Amino acid sequence: MQQQEFFDVLILGSGAAGLSTALQLAQTCPSAIRIAVVCKGTLGEGATRYAQGGISAVFDDDDSIESHVADTLVAGAGLCKRPVVEFVVSQARREIERLASFGMQFTKVEDPDNGTRLHLTQEGGHSHRRVVHAADATGLSITNTLESQVRRCPNIHVLEHHIAIDLITAGKLGITPDRCLGAYLMDIPRSRIVTLAARFTVLATGGAGKVYLYTSNPDVATGDGIAMAWRAGCVVANMEFVQFHPTCLYHPAAKSFLITEALRGEGGQLKLPNGERFMERFDPRLELAPRDIVARAIDHEMKRLGSDCVYLDISHKSPEFIEAHFPTISATCREFGIDITQQPIPVVPAAHYTCGGVVTNLAGRTTLQSLYALGEVACTGLHGANRMASNSLLECLVFANAVAKDIVATLDDVPMAQQLPAWDESRVTNSDEEIVVAHNWDELLRFMWDYVGIVRTTKRLQRARHRVDLLHSEIAEYYGNFRVTPDLIELRNLVQVAELIIRAALKRRESRGLHYTLDYPQTSEAGTAADTILRAGDFS
Ligand code: FAD
Ligand code: SIN
Repeated sequence: MQQQEFFDVLILGSGAAGLSTALQLAQTCPSAIRIAVVCKGTLGEGATRYAQGGISAVFDDDDSIESHVADTLVAGAGLCKRPVVEFVVSQARREIERLASFGMQFTKVEDPDNGTRLHLTQEGGHSHRRVVHAADATGLSITNTLESQVRRCPNIHVLEHHIAIDLITAGKLGITPDRCLGAYLMDIPRSRIVTLAARFTVLATGGAGKVYLYTSNPDVATGDGIAMAWRAGCVVANMEFVQFHPTCLYHPAAKSFLITEALRGEGGQLKLPNGERFMERFDPRLELAPRDIVARAIDHEMKRLGSDCVYLDISHKSPEFIEAHFPTISATCREFGIDITQQPIPVVPAAHYTCGGVVTNLAGRTTLQSLYALGEVACTGLHGANRMASNSLLECLVFANAVAKDIVATLDDVPMAQQLPAWDESRVTNSDEEIVVAHNWDELLRFMWDYVGIVRTTKRLQRARHRVDLLHSEIAEYYGNFRVTPDLIELRNLVQVAELIIRAALKRRESRGLHYTLDYPQTSEAGTAADTILRAGDFS
């Protein structure tokens, strides 16, 4: 007998997006509703935990909401939706104050007039200092703050080590109108499938950086939410816009550890192996040009020189300054034998952020009724063709509020969760060919890196499409024959997301923001200045 549980709200994901949504709901209706928060690992494991730079918000007297909006629009290269940008940016200050009220300790500085004030750091694309942070471990601090609040809420049920396999929709059960009814999950330690029925389901599953060989993302970032939403019939957009962070530590054992953009914001200089600076040849904003430009410049120089990495140098600043602002980076680099107060840091670009995702409106609603999406899994229109630094955590926090409000406002209109069919395992057996999963996983990550990376061509994208189509059918067959495992679930999703990225990249016949192709190097104002919308049925 399979287990079935009933919730009012099922939240898949426990990063900034999922935890904030759960908290906002619990605080709006303290005991009336049952909320489940599900995550693949422990509660705090996700991209949020590793965020370094901070959260963008207007606090400086010389800064303004208009300026934050304008910078975001410029970084987004013509594809941001202005109403969404205004909506998010105008709520930034309130969200920082909310985190502070939960006890989060932001980095502060002495102010001769006001005692202390928030320290604001600088990152690429921002015309003002406006990044609020907790030294260089902002994400860890957010995670700890939200987790301790969530653990205290009796109506939030935390399901750790559970991986969602697929959404359950009325449409798939032959019921009209179509809506989301919950999800099938695998309880990983017990290797059993659980059915969770819910009035509302919220996707907060993060991004898909793990589809690339080199990424700053943690292992959980396998694009599960995007793939599940796609299979459930949701509209997905702008998948070609994958952000590559310019500066991850280059060391065989460092797993692409991020070196925050704030290090460049505080004066860090990019250098070639011979010590020469090079950003002036690419952009007048030098090291603080938007990420797409800096990542492409580094990629270009590495290819031109045949070098394995470039260098990021902050050693001209005092050791006291470096240790105060970048204690995590300093300690981590030291573990790898690099003293950043004395030496430049070897760096390379790596896949960092998924700008596209599940299309949502200002309330976080997807195109499938009763299904919401927020955080990195969503495509809200905030980031357009290139996300500006530190706008992502902000988006998670603001949309958590919007989603919670919309759910509370519509609670009475949505029927109670109902009994759902159990997961069908009648036609599958245990796999005797696990090697297929491991082999296909390696192959996928490598061709995505080689053919669908920072600089693209139509020919390489077509090669990638051919390979992803083969993997897609191989994995579909495997999935139909064998019992699911976490690796199989993730690989199936990675292949789906890769396919969406490749198809979207082939559709965009221009270069814009993060999508750069040698076959169409110009940004075309005619015809292509639009989102790349993908709908089920566009391709099989
Ligand atoms: P995540 O925090 O990634 O959480 C995803 C959650 O979903 C996890 O709990 C995971 O277990 C769960 N999940 C996934 N799939 C499933 C499934 N199938 N079933 C159940 N659960 C599932 N942005 C900024 O604004 N400022 C920064 O300074 C910054 N620094 C960054 C540094 C690094 C190294 C990285 C990787 C990203 C950084 N970003 C930053 C981006 C930002 O951290 C992320 O975009 C943001 O944290 C995403 O939050 P999220 O809640 O959407 O997802
Ligand atoms: C960083 O600290 O460089 C990452 C910031 C971000 O991704 O927004």
